Amino acid sequence: MSTLRLAPAVQGTRILGLGSAQPERVVTNDDLSQVMDTNDQWIRERVGIVERRFGDEKDTVVSMAVEAGSKAIAAAGLAPSDLDTVIVANCTTKKPIPNAAAQVAELIGIKAAGGFDLNAACAGFCYGLGVASDLVRAGSSRRALIIGSEKLSDIVDPTDRSTAIIFADAAGAAVVGPSDEPGIGPVAWGTAGDLVDMIGMTESAHIFQEGQSVFRWATTKIAPIALRAIDLAGLKPSDIDVLIPHQANLRIVEAIAKKLRKEGAREDMVVADDIVYSGNTSSASIPMAMDHMRAAGQIHSGDVALLVGFGAGLSYAGQVVVCP
Ligand code: UT7
Repeated sequence: MSTLRLAPAVQGTRILGLGSAQPERVVTNDDLSQVMDTNDQWIRERVGIVERRFGDEKDTVVSMAVEAGSKAIAAAGLAPSDLDTVIVANCTTKKPIPNAAAQVAELIGIKAAGGFDLNAACAGFCYGLGVASDLVRAGSSRRALIIGSEKLSDIVDPTDRSTAIIFADAAGAAVVGPSDEPGIGPVAWGTAGDLVDMIGMTESAHIFQEGQSVFRWATTKIAPIALRAIDLAGLKPSDIDVLIPHQANLRIVEAIAKKLRKEGAREDMVVADDIVYSGNTSSASIPMAMDHMRAAGQIHSGDVALLVGFGAGLSYAGQVVVCP
C-alpha cells in the first residue's frame, strides 16, 4: 500500500505583525441620545463607552479588512507574496457570496490565496487565530493572515438602545507565521448551544441580544475558559502580562480580570479597555485592542497576552500568545 506524504510540519507559530482600521466618523453618546432614549452618563457607567466609529457607504467589511490586513503585513516586515492564506472572521457582510476572504486576498495582492470566511461572531478572531496557527504548524500554510472585520452599524436597528449604543465598526488583523519558540498557545474553544437564542437576528435583519442574560453568562463562564487557555499553554495566571478579552462591555472586561486575579493573576497585569473609544466591534475588538495597545506603548514585544472572545452562538475561544 502506498504511504501518503505529509506536508513538513513546524514546531511553533507566532504573531508576526498586527494592524487595524476604523472608519473616520466618530459617534458620541450625545449623538445617540438624539435618536433614542439614552444618555452619556448611563452609557459610560453601564457599558464604559465614550465614543465609537460608524462607517459610511465606502467603509465595508472588505475595505476595512484590506486596510487592517495590509498594515499587519507591513508591520511584520513582509510582502503580500509572503502569505498564502487569508481568513476573514465576520458576521456582518451584506452578501455571504462571494466570501470576503477571496476579495481581501485579491485587493491586498496575495495571489492564489487559500481564503475563507469564518463566523463565530465576537469569538471569531480567536477561532481564526487557532485555525491559522494550526494550518501553519501542520505545513498547510506558510504564513496566514487572520482578520476580524465587522460593519455592525449595517445590522443594528439605529433606534434600539440595547444594541445601538454598544456596537461599532472596525477591523483588526494579525499575520501568523512559523517560529522556533511557540508564540501561540493551544486554543480553548467551545459553544453553549443551549443559549443559542440569546443573540441573533430579527426578521428585519437587525441584531438583537438578551443583554442581561449574556452579561451574566460572560461574567461567570468566560474566566474559566481563560484559565483553561492558560493551563493548555502550560502557564500559570501569574505568567500573564496582558489580558485582552473581547471588548463587549467594560464591566464584563473588569469582571473577568477580577476573577483571574483571584486565581493568581498579577495586580500589574495590563487589561485592555479599547472599548472606551472604539465600542464593541465584535470579531475586530481583540486584534484592534492589541494593535492600539502596542502603538500606545502599553504592551511590548515578548509580553505574554491572554486573549478570550465570546458572543453569539453562544461561542467562545481563548488562547495565550506572545506579543509581536
Ligand atoms: O458582544 C457580544 C456579547 N454581548 C455582550 O456581551 C453584551 C452583554 N450585555 C450588556 O453589556 C448589558 O446587558 C447591556 C449594556 C446590553 C445593558 O446593560 P444592563 O446594565 O444589563 O442594563 P439593563 O438592561 O439591566 O437595564 C437597566 C436599566 C433599566 O431601567 P430600570 O428598569 O432599572 O428603570 C433599563 O430600562 O437601564 C435602562 N436602560 C437604559 N437606559 C439608558 C437600558 N438600556 C439603556 C440605555 N440608556 N441604552
